[in-house]
Amino acid sequence: MARPIRRIAVIGAGTIGASWAAWFLSRGLEVVASDPSPDAPGLIRRMVETAWPILQQLGATADADPGRWRFEPDPVKAVEGCDAVQESAPERYEVKQPLLRAISAALPEGALILLSSSGLLVSRLSEGCTHPERVVIGHPFNPPHLIPLVEVVGGTTASPEAVQAAVAFYQAIGKYPIVLNKEVPGHLANRLQAALWREAVHMVAEGVASVADVDAAISQGPGLRWALMGPHATFHLAGGEGGYAHFMHHLMPAVTSWWESLGNPVLTPELQKALIDGVTQETGGRPIPALAADRDAALVRLLAAKTG
Ligand SMILES: NC(=O)c1ccc[n+]([C@@H]2O[C@H](COP(=O)([O-])OP(=O)(O)OC[C@H]3O[C@@H](n4cnc5c(N)ncnc54)[C@H](O)[C@@H]3O)[C@@H](O)[C@H]2O)c1
Repeated sequence: MARPIRRIAVIGAGTIGASWAAWFLSRGLEVVASDPSPDAPGLIRRMVETAWPILQQLGATADADPGRWRFEPDPVKAVEGCDAVQESAPERYEVKQPLLRAISAALPEGALILLSSSGLLVSRLSEGCTHPERVVIGHPFNPPHLIPLVEVVGGTTASPEAVQAAVAFYQAIGKYPIVLNKEVPGHLANRLQAALWREAVHMVAEGVASVADVDAAISQGPGLRWALMGPHATFHLAGGEGGYAHFMHHLMPAVTSWWESLGNPVLTPELQKALIDGVTQETGGRPIPALAADRDAALVRLLAAKTG
């Protein structure tokens, strides 16, 4: 049986782990963080400090305490006595597998191991774990303290109870979990992103538009709708009063004929340079932290608009 989650171990505290730590703290959880890098405690401190005013705006619980975390460099010691783990170590089987084997042996009975992996298979990640049935993908989006979606994948190895417990946990802390019925590389949302990015690269490679205009084609166009409804519901409305059925009848031949000419670009060094130069020009060379701060402030307004 799943344990109530009050103390959670954040194993791997880089970009994603530190952001998870901030979100967990804002929801009243106690956090034990672990990372081999000596810079990790400083990163967590800065992340929590910077994000705290936003997290309060987003509904931090009354018992939330930005100081209720400690750092333990040894991951096995870190998970001792924890009710769950959110693992966010580098995206490589050879790093995650030995780590998961070690921590799964040290966890208390019924504790869930949730994995932030962007696209690795849970059935391979959990190989050799003491309790593979409790290892579940809980894939967030950057930054996890702002984006609601969490993809939950149990694959062929997690128990249905563990998948259910993961969903219940993420719902209880204010996230929007969706369950994938099958495991596939890249899960779901990253596959959708990858399909779009492939075409965005192809359009630049073919000289159809500049990097900035390809980006504007999404951010000033369909991207505005996509924050409100996904591709299926968007086309349901594109069909007018006849909905998706009319859309299929009317536009499907045209759209499926475009599918045939979608690109499969090769990311040569020259193409990579053109893309990097293009995005540097688009963003006026502004430093990443400044761009991320602007994005995060706008995301908070967007989330408020969606719920308001
Ligand atoms: N960056 C994203 O946009 C994003 C989004 C969603 C999910 N993820 C996933 O989150 C995970 C972490 O990605 P990230 O972007 O935070 O990477 P990152 O490089 O910022 O952080 C990884 C952290 O893991 C630490 N680490 C290295 N070896 C370790 C080990 N053996 N045990 C524990 N920690 C170790 C590193 O010191 C570093 O602090 C990956 O699985 C990635 O796929 C990333």
